[in-house]
Amino acid sequence: MRIDIITVLPELLKSPFEASILKRAIDKKLVEVHFHNLREYTSNNYKQVDDYQFGGGAGMVMMIEPIDLCISKLTSQRDYDEIIYMTPDGETLNQQTSNSLSLLKNIIILCGHYKGVDQRVRDAFITKEISIGDYVLSGGELGAAVLCDTIIRLLPGVLNDETSALTDSFQDGLLAPPVYTRPAEYKGMKVPDILLSGNFGKIEEWREQKAHERTQQLRPDLLE
Ligand code: ADE
Repeated sequence: MRIDIITVLPELLKSPFEASILKRAIDKKLVEVHFHNLREYTSNNYKQVDDYQFGGGAGMVMMIEPIDLCISKLTSQRDYDEIIYMTPDGETLNQQTSNSLSLLKNIIILCGHYKGVDQRVRDAFITKEISIGDYVLSGGELGAAVLCDTIIRLLPGVLNDETSALTDSFQDGLLAPPVYTRPAEYKGMKVPDILLSGNFGKIEEWREQKAHERTQQLRPDLLE
């Protein structure tokens, strides 16, 4: 998979890809992530990417030209399955969306800033708009990092057995059951006996039951 991220702040975005699972995925060549600094696509001397909005009103708007130049250069080099715009008014990200995006070959992610991008960018180029939640970030970069993390950890070979995505919360529509590790007793707090029983059939049943209980208690909306 190849991910191209268009941003005015590449430095804000890079560190999540330089550590841990994302770095390993890149080092193992399971994913390529490329950053494109929108200021390099400006035609004015000030490398200006935004301007006042027509009709007046507070806040700057990202101009169409640099975005067009950047997206057009990328799409002239290869086909893209999705051109995603990170925005608080997009569809809220969930595991299902990440699962389907992880099956794609090439995607572009455009990070918004200020009041967002000129509407014509959205009308002409964007195929999918994603929000990471009902709150406003100062820019799309942190949202793009979250989106990339959820996608990349699903790519074949990125996680090993110990970190397998199959048993994650949400993967079967439920929250994950509680987990424990050594010691079996700590300051009087005991690990449930069943987990020490060695009876894997019963353990699996217990986990399913706990996953249902936890989901019922914390996120009943997931069961509807
Ligand atoms: N940009 C600003 N807020 C955002 C959000 N909640 N999700 C994605 N991109 C954003």
